[in-house]
Amino acid sequence: MEVVHVPVMHEEVLEALKIKDNGIYIDATVGLGGHSKNILNQAGGCTLIGIDRDDKALEIAKERLKGFENVHLVRESFSNIKSVAEGLGYDRVNGILLDIGVSMLHLKSEDRGFSFLSDDLLDMRMDSRQDLTAEKIVNRYREKELADIIWRYGDERFSRRIAKAIVYARQKKPVKSCKELAGIIERAVRRRGRIHPATRSFQALRIEVNKELDELTAVIDAVPDILAREGRLCVISYHSLEDRIVKNSFKALAKEGLFKIITRKPLVPGRQEQIINPSSRSAKMRIGEKI
Ligand SMILES: C[S@@+](CC[C@H](N)C(=O)[O-])C[C@H]1O[C@@H](n2cnc3c(N)ncnc32)[C@H](O)[C@@H]1O
Repeated sequence: MEVVHVPVMHEEVLEALKIKDNGIYIDATVGLGGHSKNILNQAGGCTLIGIDRDDKALEIAKERLKGFENVHLVRESFSNIKSVAEGLGYDRVNGILLDIGVSMLHLKSEDRGFSFLSDDLLDMRMDSRQDLTAEKIVNRYREKELADIIWRYGDERFSRRIAKAIVYARQKKPVKSCKELAGIIERAVRRRGRIHPATRSFQALRIEVNKELDELTAVIDAVPDILAREGRLCVISYHSLEDRIVKNSFKALAKEGLFKIITRKPLVPGRQEQIINPSSRSAKMRIGEKI
């Protein structure tokens, strides 16, 4: 299956990072390589370090970036950005991009367990080497832990009812597939509007499996140590929990005198992009500059 991930806000990314000849850039969420390719095409002699914890994504990125020189692709969590850069011999870089969240590869592949519409086993790991899966959370976490996660990461007001229904169902037999879980949630809460009732719970599980918010906090903390002066950090996030972390982390860095905030308010995709690529609609971009 060919998976296409259209890079979101690609022109804004190039502008945000002020790509220059011979610059060194880290695409810490290289994914299928869309933004990386644009960065390498933008100026001559650039070095690109592409990080992703998903080996399947890296395989596709490798193919897509074939033919460019000075490309290093590394399978790692982006919270380890500093050791990745230093391990390759770079202690300062000119720009860092974080286009966080999942890619089309996760949502459209048949064996990754991200989509509530699929028959896949509940998995949701971006990094297949990791032990924790959505199946383990659903079948092993205590009812209160499940409810807290669904409430905190899914902003789901029926979190307690959903957790109770999951625990009741798993007492009869373990909940194994995405469809099974979606059915349990659908029976526990009534459908409101067009959004599937499992949407928020699935988002919550994904965030817990991949420790997405901890990763985001850790990577932004590490950035000032590896950005050169006037180097830019550009973060694109896709839901309010993430955007709040980016906003508060930027503020904290600015308070410490390490960062100038370039975007007082987040940038969002233009109308045209939102029509052509509906999955860009929730994107918010924030940019900071190392002082
Ligand atoms: C929205 S996609 C990026 C798409 C990419 N910009 C492109 O143009 O194809 C996010 C990517 O970040 C990766 N990712 C998410 N969290 C990560 C983390 N903590 N460490 C490393 N990679 C991560 C995912 O595996 C996914 O491939």
